[in-house]
Amino acid sequence: MDNQTLTITDNRTQRTYTIPLYRGTIRAMDLRQIKIDAGDFGLMTYDPAFMNTASCQSAITYLDGDQGILRYRGYPIEQLAENCTFLEVAYLMLYGELPTVEQLALWDCHVMHHSLIHENVKKFMEGFHYDAHPMGILMSTVAALSTFYPEARNIADPKCRRKQIIRLIGKMPTLAAYAYRHRLGMPYIYPDPELGYTKNYMNMLWKRAEPKYAANPVLSRALEVLFILHADHEQNCSTSTMRAVGSSGADPYATAAAAIAALSGPLHGGANEEVLRMLDEIGSKDNIPGFIAQVKEGKRKLMGFGHRVYKNYDPRARIIKQVAEEVFEVTGRNPKIDTAIELERIALSDEYFIKRKLYPNVDFYSGIIYQAMGFKPEQFTVLFGIPRTVGWLAQWEEMLQDSEQKIARPRQIYTGPEQRNYLPIELRGVRQAVQVG
Ligand code: ACO
Repeated sequence: MDNQTLTITDNRTQRTYTIPLYRGTIRAMDLRQIKIDAGDFGLMTYDPAFMNTASCQSAITYLDGDQGILRYRGYPIEQLAENCTFLEVAYLMLYGELPTVEQLALWDCHVMHHSLIHENVKKFMEGFHYDAHPMGILMSTVAALSTFYPEARNIADPKCRRKQIIRLIGKMPTLAAYAYRHRLGMPYIYPDPELGYTKNYMNMLWKRAEPKYAANPVLSRALEVLFILHADHEQNCSTSTMRAVGSSGADPYATAAAAIAALSGPLHGGANEEVLRMLDEIGSKDNIPGFIAQVKEGKRKLMGFGHRVYKNYDPRARIIKQVAEEVFEVTGRNPKIDTAIELERIALSDEYFIKRKLYPNVDFYSGIIYQAMGFKPEQFTVLFGIPRTVGWLAQWEEMLQDSEQKIARPRQIYTGPEQRNYLPIELRGVRQAVQVG
């Protein structure tokens, strides 16, 4: 179509510019030609929090927030969650196609082969306080892996990158399980590659004195589904961090540690932990109206609700609600689910939430399942980080192969003082009280 352009008139100069449109966007650099005179820097866009800025082109995850659609590499999340293993989805995410039987067997074998961690990791894990937050431990130990694999700096070599990707996916459950057992003061359990990704993780978490721990198949499948649902979510806060930090050429371990830091925040992956605390605080259903009133007054946030992109029901929340019922068949019903369902019912019929298009997100129900399975709230974000590592690495790999990408470096609008001259300390009057310390 030859009308795929935008015409802009600069009222300061009366000049008109025609700018090409590309997939519903304009290139911000095309605005730079719009100047008052030759010395002018040119026009920029101002977009705090990236509300309306595409930072990359990506073929990994498709998300339509208005329709509530999520697809990985074109496959609807519902189909993948129903039919795939987590490692099968990881393969899809990284290589663009679902694996054949042989490819999957080899892939499983490669990833599980890398589940062991260096014995020294155990030593520095010992240095953490008994009540250290597991996300802090995970972040630090993942960053520390870069010192164990210095060759990982060679990010220009696709073979080397591939090795680190497999390594990190393989080691995440082991690091997470060790962090869990460290907190409990329990001996670490070595990975057992024979068990596969989720069952091995459960074994490392929960094996005690029994000769052979057997994961409940319903619970291991539930974990598998939850991992699939969390594997990627296009340019969210932690993934954008992964891309931004990775764009500097940092190695994948340091880069993933930065993404873990971003994930730990309560507005992002940390929300699942906050949902449980909120449900604990609400207690019984009778207290919901009072809580909702506080939210509407702006005193509180309804954690697990709202999303930058979804302005409809998060499709992952729908699947998770279903998984919850299957899990409760095994574990018994977590009473918090009834409070959550009632909270959702009241919120979804309230003008405040309807007007702002606030729906439950992935974190609203996931914590309730995790708790029923025996996890403590501080573990929930770790359970998010393990599968999201796959998305981070797929996006990192895509970013490194994208010839348009350079070091991420946003612009700013400077709002500080104009140039002024240095004053010796004895000549400075007290202009305003500055609190130091
Ligand atoms: N509870 C109450 N009000 C909310 C909520 C909420 N959970 N979320 C948004 N709002 C309100 C805002 O106060 C704002 O109201 P206003 O227009 O009267 O000022 C309006 O809805 C728009 O919200 P924004 O904060 O502008 O939306 P944004 O896209 O910046 O934030 C976010 C998205 C951070 C997810 C937000 O909805 C939130 O804080 N939710 C709770 C935390 C949460 O569940 N995070 C997990 C997100 S999913 C994930 O990362 C895996």
